[in-house]
Amino acid sequence: MWWRDAVLYQIYPRSFADSNGDGIGDLPGITARLDHLQWLGVDALWLSPIHPSPNADWGYDVADYQGVHPDLGTLADFDVLVAEATARNLRVVLDLVPNHTSDQHAWFQDAIKSTDSPYRDYYVWADPKIDDAGVAGPPNNWVSSFGGPAWTLDDASGQYYLHNFLPEQPDLNWWTDGVRDAFDDILRFWFDRGVSGFRIDVCHMVVKDKELRDNPPVPDDAHWYERLRGQSQVYNADRPEVHDVIRRWRGVADGYDPARMLLGEVYLLDINRMVRFYGERDDELSLAFNFNFLHNPLDAASLREGVEIVEGSIPPHGWPAWTGSNHDVSRFPTRWAEGDAAKTKCALLMLLTLRGTPVLYYGDEIGMEDTEFRKEQLRDPVGQRFFPVYAGRDPCRTPMVWSDAAGAGFTGAGVEPWLPFGSLARNVDAQRDDPDSILTFCRDALAVRKELGDLRGAPYEPLETGDGVWAWRRGQAAVVLNLSDNDAVVDGVVGTIRLATVRGREGESLQGAIRMGPFEGALVS
Ligand code: GLC
Ligand code: CA
Repeated sequence: MWWRDAVLYQIYPRSFADSNGDGIGDLPGITARLDHLQWLGVDALWLSPIHPSPNADWGYDVADYQGVHPDLGTLADFDVLVAEATARNLRVVLDLVPNHTSDQHAWFQDAIKSTDSPYRDYYVWADPKIDDAGVAGPPNNWVSSFGGPAWTLDDASGQYYLHNFLPEQPDLNWWTDGVRDAFDDILRFWFDRGVSGFRIDVCHMVVKDKELRDNPPVPDDAHWYERLRGQSQVYNADRPEVHDVIRRWRGVADGYDPARMLLGEVYLLDINRMVRFYGERDDELSLAFNFNFLHNPLDAASLREGVEIVEGSIPPHGWPAWTGSNHDVSRFPTRWAEGDAAKTKCALLMLLTLRGTPVLYYGDEIGMEDTEFRKEQLRDPVGQRFFPVYAGRDPCRTPMVWSDAAGAGFTGAGVEPWLPFGSLARNVDAQRDDPDSILTFCRDALAVRKELGDLRGAPYEPLETGDGVWAWRRGQAAVVLNLSDNDAVVDGVVGTIRLATVRGREGESLQGAIRMGPFEGALVS
């Protein structure tokens, strides 16, 4: 279970490093930057989808699960990336998108040709529903996660097909054995190529209600994220039968030595439902993302509660995962820290010292912030649809800032990047040798985590604190975060400060209490 000791690092491939000057990040670019990741001290990279895709949803609409998008390189480039990563003790994790394909996938292209297509059943088709007034409409009331009906009419056959995301992303029908078998092969194809695991896109959603029943309205007290759609996803997500599919994938993953990791995007804010994806026994996900935690503000009580809900409900064979940023949400140096370096360091200290596996997003290590967008610059369809209320996901997907030179070290000088650069003020070059930088802090935190076994293995035990402060013990180590504007004193902390957001305090020895300034964090052992 290598992932329990690991720190994962998510790369959005189009935005990490461009090797050939076309403004698009690519696999050889990632290979050329592996030294940075090794120097930083992470253990595995998760790449958002690298496959051929018409990019209606920037790779999350896959047209061929066993290929590499020509913008990103070739299969041979991928093999080089795995070999070079392995040589640096870095593992490579891919993104599996089993809920839907692209409408350009050969299966869907065949399925729309005729109702007799052998691939027709790979997708979810249904006849129109005739309402009381005799008007034909979608088969049920399901709403797409991206807004609008989850059904599109195929004029040729007169049937609707289901898409829980864009119309260009038809949902696969996981009640069909052909789909199940095809995905076993896809998993094996990449595992055999040296891939160490998968992050699984919307993995709680893949199985839909066989009877396609209408979803009920959302309760008034539901989380804002659930209220967005106006309905509870009772019948198009988190169906009991989804667990059979996950157990099946786990069986494939466990057939390898060392076992391969399955990290699920289980977008369920109800933690009791989320933790079921670890299985009743250890036979489902290795790790599950926790969006309930991620959506909390940088507030001691909320974050603490977010952690303790998981600690109290995860089964003994389960293992938490913690993340603050990804390619779908505002980056935490903006969302939590509002650009403040001290707050960003506090958040990094938290993510890297809780019990569980941290997942950093590229740029987190330098405190990279969201980029502001004008509507004409947006490329994410979700942002285009909801602008200006919500600029979508482009703000967190802009190119990695390696330096403040023209091209930001991402691409050549004068090359137009596929998404505009954000601020170049925070960049790798400037922070690398600065002892007070976010990057140096992040690297040192990763090193302490490697050095102190308790930070990886020991249980989480909260300490008594006043308001605005959160402190916990991990075996011999203690972490104290003052997430308030006031000074604070926390008792019961003995030892030496090993790592502090105020770097000058490292080495200070404590006689039973620690005094902390506003937005200060420390690790003591
Ligand atoms: C997941 C991905 C997101 C994508 C969606 C549909 O939530 O993280 O980027 O748009 O699934 O695949
Ligand atoms: Ca390129």
